[in-house]
Amino acid sequence: MKKIIITIDGYSSCGKSTLAKQLARKLDYTYIDSGAMYRAITLYFIQNRIDWVSPEAVVKALADIHLDFVMNVMSGVCEMHLNDENVEHLIREMVIAEKVSEVAAIKEVREFAVAQQKQMGARKGIVMDGRDIGTVVFPHAELKIFMTADIDIRVERRFKELYAKNRNITIEEVKQNLELRDYIDANREISPLRKADDAIILDNSQLSLNDQLELVMQWVEDATMAH
Ligand code: DC
Repeated sequence: MKKIIITIDGYSSCGKSTLAKQLARKLDYTYIDSGAMYRAITLYFIQNRIDWVSPEAVVKALADIHLDFVMNVMSGVCEMHLNDENVEHLIREMVIAEKVSEVAAIKEVREFAVAQQKQMGARKGIVMDGRDIGTVVFPHAELKIFMTADIDIRVERRFKELYAKNRNITIEEVKQNLELRDYIDANREISPLRKADDAIILDNSQLSLNDQLELVMQWVEDATMAH
């Protein structure tokens, strides 16, 4: 069957990556977590005390950053490597979540990440999730999905994930972080989070993963036939 590009955009903790991973596995496509790139850049900035308010400092730092997605043969999922170090776990920490929206709003950072993301789509057969994938990175993607879910449901899902790793975290902190990230992502000047005109909305507040997969597989079939 012909391979297409599938974009999944939406708010934080909507279950984009869970769906994208399963979808990629079913279709034998590559899954790319574009948010991981912004997280890895944030990690580098924090580790190296980069003053990201200064465009000169940002440009200089970006020249020293090499990002790679490396396939983990055990899980079948690509993991984020920053300058040849596997940072997949480090970039999921709360300290990164607290700063990543700020870093992702920087023009030079976006140009750096988007240029690499566009190259990854050259061979089609990818599912990429993020905030601007259907609007900026692949405006001509064959299937665009915009995911959303009730804020309290998203908070609960994210809290469960984080609590498993850190028992000091509170539900209020998680809610504040999600709301703040949503606000910054949707209101930033450069490529803010918004639904592409031709994206299909998937509200998964009341849908199981299997329900979502069933729906989306039908959309994939339709999009593949139409192109
Ligand atoms: O999807 P995520 O939570 O891992 O994304 C981390 C941050 O990166 C989030 O605050 C928004 C930003 N991001 C972005 O601006 N554009 C993307 N394509 C992906 C993520």
